[in-house]
Parts: sequence; C-alpha cells; structure tokens
Amino acid sequence: GDPLIIDCDPGIDDALAIFLALGSPELDLVGVTTVAGNRPLDQVTRNALALLAIAGRSDVPVHAGCARGLLPRNIRNAFAHGEDGLGGLPHPEGIAEPVGHAVDYLVETIMAAEPGTVTLAAIGPLTNVATAFTREPRLAERLKRLVVMGGAVGVPGNITPTAEFNFMHDPAAAHIVLSSGAAIDLFGLNLTRQVRVTAGFVDGIAASGTRTSTAVAAMTRAYVTKDSAMHDPCVVAKLIAPQLFGGTMARVIVDYRPGPTDGTSLLDPTDTDERLFVNVVETVDSDGVRALLTERIARLP
Ligand code: BDR
Ligand code: CA
Repeated sequence: GDPLIIDCDPGIDDALAIFLALGSPELDLVGVTTVAGNRPLDQVTRNALALLAIAGRSDVPVHAGCARGLLPRNIRNAFAHGEDGLGGLPHPEGIAEPVGHAVDYLVETIMAAEPGTVTLAAIGPLTNVATAFTREPRLAERLKRLVVMGGAVGVPGNITPTAEFNFMHDPAAAHIVLSSGAAIDLFGLNLTRQVRVTAGFVDGIAASGTRTSTAVAAMTRAYVTKDSAMHDPCVVAKLIAPQLFGGTMARVIVDYRPGPTDGTSLLDPTDTDERLFVNVVETVDSDGVRALLTERIARLP
C-alpha cells in the first residue's frame, strides 16, 4: 500500500484511525508520531504503543514529538477520552519503546522518500508538523497529501464557542500548516460531526470478537456517552475510499491571537492565491465510513 505516517495524540478516535489504517491493504503505516494533545506527551505515546501491540503491529515505530504547543494554550483536557486517553482500556504486556524524535523522523523520512509518495495524516494538535515544516520547508511539496483533522469551518467549536480542540491547542501551528502550500484535505467539525457512533456500529464492531474489535467496542462505548462524533478516522477513510467524501477548495486561516476568537478557523475569500487553497471536506457518506471501519477493523487480530 501507499506509505502513510500518522501524527496523533491517542485519543479514542485516534485509535480508530490507526486501526483503520492497519486493517487496510491500500495503506502501509510506516511510522507513528505522537504529540501532546488529548493527554500529555508521555501518556499519548504509551497509548500509541499499546494500540499497535493490540493490533499485533509493534513493528511499526513510534516517535514521540513535541510536549507542548508553539504558543501553548491553557485549555481544558479533551475529557471525552477519559483520564488515560483511551477510556480505561488496559494496556497489553510487553509494549515497545518509542524511538528518536518525531520531528527528526518526519523530516528524514519524507525527504528520503521519492517526492510525492508519502502521505501524512495529522489527527492531533499540529505542533510536530509545523515544527517539521519550519525546519524543512520543502516537506510541504514533497508530501503526496497531508490530511488533517482540525478546525470548525462555519460551525460551533468544541472547546470554545468557535474553536476546535486540535487547532485551539496550538493555533499558531495550525496557521503555519494551513499556509504551507501542502496538498491538504481539512476535516473540521463541520465534517466530522456528520459521522456519529451508532449503537448498531458498536455491536457490529464487537461481533467479530477479535482482540482489536473487543478493545474498539469497549473504547467506543466509553466515548459515545461524551462525544459521539468519529473525528479522526474520517481522514484515513478518505485515503482508502475517496468516493465517500466531497469538498471545496478554499483558503482557510486560523486566528492565533489570544482572545475570544483564538483558535478559530475561517474561510478567507479575500486571499485568491490558489497555491494556498486547501480542500475543505464538507460532505460524507456516514454509513459508508461506518461500514468501512467495521469491515477493516475485523481484519485485525
Ligand atoms: C479532535 O480533538 C481530539 O479530542 C480528537 O481526538 C480529535 O482529534 C476533535 O476536536
Ligand atoms: Ca486526535
């Protein structure tokens, strides 16, 4: 499959995104990088390692990245994921150790690969990606695609009235990435709130009875009482089944000034430089995404 790196802060919906990638032959998950977000860096790194162990894929290297944002904000935890970030999921025995730094890994791996081959899925705050792009600006054009969960275009936020959690955690990083010129698909709350956990979905996942599906069903049952939107798996789903999604090209900017609109994502119709346009993903076949998740997670041990 196509080489994919996932930059994440697991996070229950991050877990779904990772498992969807691992269960899909169209994608080859070559590495995972972690960033402080839903929980502090150490916790999300251990969570990523635990998820890979559950799926029998401890061979996928995990690289811990930035422990705080560029212009960090003192915001609430993303409470929907529980104290540990995975809704109390027990970690298996013998999980691996992280290796190296995420920013080194991103720069070295993407620059060493053939141009236009590596896809990066960013499903946490954008600190690692912005730092890597700042250190090596050529990364933006080397990537095949950058798929991002963040922002809330034209809809209410989930951490302030207008800001979404990933962007609010590090608004400057979000603005840097959206101004990088990379080929970006942006999955904001306007999109991801359309893909809900349903009771039938959880039962369908649990039905396959594997180690991974049992873990997913337990995490999802814990999550659905607090947030029923499956944000992060949407970005991976589009890499596998682009026909499930539709979007519009536009310039999106992020307010990174402290104040009531800090972290807010805005369409900017006054900027007509098409090199900075991103694909704002707007429509989704939610049943199709749920069916894809169910089918692909069932393929894991
Ligand atoms: C985003 O915030 C996190 O809590 C989720 O994992 C997702 O990436 C949704 O706003
Ligand atoms: Ca996340």
